[in-house]
Amino acid sequence: MARIIAISSGKGGVGKTTLVANLSAALAQYGKSVVALDANLTTSNLALHLGMHLYPKTLHDVFERKAGIRDVTYMHKTGFKVIPADISFRKLRDVRSHEYIDVFYRLIEENDFILIDSPAGLGRDSLAAVEAADELITITNPELPAITDALKLSILANKYSTHNLGVVVNRIKRESHEVPIDHIEKMLGLPAIGKIPEDREVRKAIALKEPVVSYNPKSPAAQHIIALAANLIGEEYTPRMPWGLRLFGWLAR
Ligand SMILES: Nc1ncnc2c1ncn2[C@@H]1O[C@H](COP(=O)(O)OP(=O)(O)OP(=O)(O)O)[C@@H](O)[C@H]1O
Ligand SMILES: [Mg+2]
Repeated sequence: MARIIAISSGKGGVGKTTLVANLSAALAQYGKSVVALDANLTTSNLALHLGMHLYPKTLHDVFERKAGIRDVTYMHKTGFKVIPADISFRKLRDVRSHEYIDVFYRLIEENDFILIDSPAGLGRDSLAAVEAADELITITNPELPAITDALKLSILANKYSTHNLGVVVNRIKRESHEVPIDHIEKMLGLPAIGKIPEDREVRKAIALKEPVVSYNPKSPAAQHIIALAANLIGEEYTPRMPWGLRLFGWLAR
């Protein structure tokens, strides 16, 4: 039975798609059967992150009853499945949570994880994906506007039976004006299950349309994402930071 986890944020651009692509690849490296599903139906770009944007059929076709789920499930070269949404401007009516649940039913038996790349914002489209999922990972940057939107998401998610696993703080630069992790945990009432540093390897990997966990698994961001994947499946993993960064981290304490 697959665990169905929505990766959502409230504020846009904080790293949902990056996390879905990389967590999927990291879980696949642990031998898990994973489906990454793009629920961002208006500004989808999961397929672009993964170099899989030229496939003819997408989730849009499933919701329009023009394709079955197997017709739109593609294998990424790193060993996980991707269900892309259409990258063109293709208008689709609002998709309801039960329609997502129908899709999940068709995937749940033969997979270990279904990871959902949610749209930004707290509109019906993003909440439909959160409502349909069993679990939620909230992602934010260590800045007040993003944290405030993450709090709104948590409050809305509490109305559903979706279990909020915790918060992932992405793009940590260790700058003095950043909100500290323990404050974020207190503000959201959630444990920080991931602390991903700002890492230009992430941007390089995106430009090459590859997950950073395969492009440069030793990079700091990749290490922290692999650690999060390990945590999700109950494995021990301590991120191996390069010597220079460890020293920097110690000095910055
Ligand atoms: N850890 C990181 N280090 C450096 N850059 C990052 C990191 N995470 C994300 N980024 C940058 O932030 C950009 C936005 O990330 P991403 O597309 O994953 O956000 P998103 O939350 O999915 O956005 P949207 O709300 O528009 O869907 C990426 O293109 C990348 O350049
Ligand atoms: Mg995105």
